[in-house]
Amino acid sequence: TSLARFVDPLPIPSVARAAEQRADPANPGHTLPCYRIEMRACKVRLHRDIPTTPVWGYNGQFPGPSIEARRGEPLLVEWVNALPSQHFLPIDHTLHGAERDKPDVRAITHVHGARVPAKADGFPDDWYTPGHSVLYRYPNGQDAATLWYHDHAMGITRLNIYAGLFGAYIVRDAEEQALHLPSGDYDMPLILCDRLVAQDGQLYYPVSDDPHAPWVMQCLGNLVLCNGKVFPYLDVEPRRYRFRLINVANTRFFDLSLSHDQAMQQIASDQGLLPAPLERARIELYPAERADVVIDFAGFAGKSVQLRHESQGIVEFRVRAQSSRDMSALPATLRPVTRIDPAAAARERILTLNEIDDANGNAMQMLLDGKRWSDPITENPRQNSIETWSFVNLTGDAHPIHVHLVRFQVIDRRPFDLFAWNAHRKLEFTGPAVPPEPQELGWKDTVRADSGMVTRIAMRFDGEPGRYVWHCHFLEHEDNEMMRPFQVLPAHS
Ligand code: C2O
Ligand code: CU
Repeated sequence: TSLARFVDPLPIPSVARAAEQRADPANPGHTLPCYRIEMRACKVRLHRDIPTTPVWGYNGQFPGPSIEARRGEPLLVEWVNALPSQHFLPIDHTLHGAERDKPDVRAITHVHGARVPAKADGFPDDWYTPGHSVLYRYPNGQDAATLWYHDHAMGITRLNIYAGLFGAYIVRDAEEQALHLPSGDYDMPLILCDRLVAQDGQLYYPVSDDPHAPWVMQCLGNLVLCNGKVFPYLDVEPRRYRFRLINVANTRFFDLSLSHDQAMQQIASDQGLLPAPLERARIELYPAERADVVIDFAGFAGKSVQLRHESQGIVEFRVRAQSSRDMSALPATLRPVTRIDPAAAARERILTLNEIDDANGNAMQMLLDGKRWSDPITENPRQNSIETWSFVNLTGDAHPIHVHLVRFQVIDRRPFDLFAWNAHRKLEFTGPAVPPEPQELGWKDTVRADSGMVTRIAMRFDGEPGRYVWHCHFLEHEDNEMMRPFQVLPAHS
């Protein structure tokens, strides 16, 4: 594009403030801070030279305000749907859950990566219409991590998130704080997505050539946005910063690097700190994945460094000449990650990722284990039990698979014989298991399941019994049957 590069300052999402204290529904006689966050239509400027863009944002902000939580300190959020009654993006009424008898505008918020009771998890069918709200309680009983919140309404999640319904949810804890990583003004989310933006500033969402079934299986934009801006710049001091990279795109995966062959130190993945900082020249992030990095600008006083996606600069860091004293640290070890022993699993589940093709062999729909959303629940782990799930990818593409409620570990990926599987549903491996990549040795909640591979994860179903979901985080897939409910059964007493 011919847009001027790096003319707008990088916006840093505001931090949400609790409006009041309210009674704690789980703890009679106690109160908790309560945030009131309203989804509404608003106009934003994506770039100096692009006319204003109508979007939907939490609190009218794009991205929404960051919610800051501390481990062990529960909070309440009243999620208010104050959206207009018409959608501005093309709904496909042939998709399950988005039929004509459903209202166009529906919303329900999920905090991605949060361990919350089922009733506050934002189940996709629990959507509500403008004029309504829900009050959710977040226990925050989990390790420090960069989480994010977003819409999850059945059949239109891809449109609601594309419209702008996302924001960061940051959990901190004392152990992390004791490491003295860069903090305060030197710690911020970089929320990445892409959008198709027309000359007049309107957001455009791609459609198929069937006006009655406009769903498309992927959505790639012409512009990359960081914290809601195209080509922003950030003035930085010649010192260490912590950036929380979050991929909130519908389909795009980001291949991130710094100019000048500068390396980044990755300190955390989806669910928090890695055992030790990891030097990375490139970081690949699939939709919904996160990576926290420390970048040290100390050697760059007076120069600039760009964060790039592939070869394109997306953010420019302008390094000032002077710094206040950098009191931050980058310790050699961060937080131990005890490996889950797959042999301790109460259950191993083999789950396929497959696609249904039309008569011409074009992919129409992707399914999980050959089942649709409305089929009876088949994944029913016991509370506190360990399970391994093997994603057998029969499709030609990688899919980012996300499981609600839990944090998991990647065990391995192993190539298998597709023909043997199709002929007699038997897993015949064609090569050795590939161990997880170094950045996958921490806790994850979204994993890349490669084509032609069995991707194995292990997790303990800590949390409350109830109904949750697991799905592909390509939003187009998730909206068209690549999502399944699962049920956590009460622990044996
Ligand atoms: Cu990012 Cu089911 O969520
Ligand atoms: Cu998918």
